[in-house]
Amino acid sequence: MTKEIEKWWNEASKSYQESSQIETKSAHYGPYAPNENKYRMLGNVKGKRILEIGCGGGQCSIAFAKQGAKCTGLDLSSDQLKHAEDLAKKNKVSVKFQKHDIQSLGGFRSNYYDIVFSAFALQYIPDLTRCFKEIFRVLRKGGLFAFSFEHPFYSSISTVTFRVDKNYNKSEKIKEIETWPDGSKHTFVAYRRKVSEIFGSLLKAGFSIENIIEPFDRKSENAWRKGYWKKIYPKKLIEMIGPTIIFKARK
Ligand SMILES: C[S@@+](CC[C@H](N)C(=O)[O-])C[C@H]1O[C@@H](n2cnc3c(N)ncnc32)[C@H](O)[C@@H]1O
Repeated sequence: MTKEIEKWWNEASKSYQESSQIETKSAHYGPYAPNENKYRMLGNVKGKRILEIGCGGGQCSIAFAKQGAKCTGLDLSSDQLKHAEDLAKKNKVSVKFQKHDIQSLGGFRSNYYDIVFSAFALQYIPDLTRCFKEIFRVLRKGGLFAFSFEHPFYSSISTVTFRVDKNYNKSEKIKEIETWPDGSKHTFVAYRRKVSEIFGSLLKAGFSIENIIEPFDRKSENAWRKGYWKKIYPKKLIEMIGPTIIFKARK
């Protein structure tokens, strides 16, 4: 499955980066969520060791590096990482980007990082508890784990009819063959789960959960109102249910 996810992200990287235009001033949490500079959930990151998992085009790691953090960004997709490397150069910051499957953090030191961060990447992980245990291992005692997902309630609702069209009670693997505007076919794989499962996996890994945030910030700076994204985040629907959920947990 990981091969299919890697392939999809290599194929999608260019259009994802062009259409989303994610900022590098502050780490973002996702569509219609305030960014980290507004939340200050992670405190002052200057001098902190941060591991970003599923870093994509590197914008969050770059934002942390601009604020003085020592950041490492991991991703499965070489195309996403190439974007990240180029963007870090453009922004004149140093981030260590590395191709790594975040299902396991083999090769990364235990009790080392102050913060593990992730935006919209953990929905591609089949065994969340195993992944969370690895994150717990690499964090120092008292270290923070902050991450966002697409809100599982949002994932259950049709963006066309605005009715519940997926079974929220049933966690499942999603596998869809997409046809893109140029006619090419692409296999998309991700995992849908309930809020309580995400919460439960954190507990099983040993974390204390400090906060769950369900934001809806119409004013947040992002590109999610334009083009392709308008279909995924239609105004009428996002005003009833925000598409992002954020968890803050501590070792
Ligand atoms: C929606 S993008 C989010 C990227 C970035 N955090 C952002 O906010 O733009 C999801 C990312 O997760 C990465 N990913 C998916 N499964 C992964 C895995 N098992 N190991 C590492 N990265 C993975 C993808 O390659 C993709 O770059």
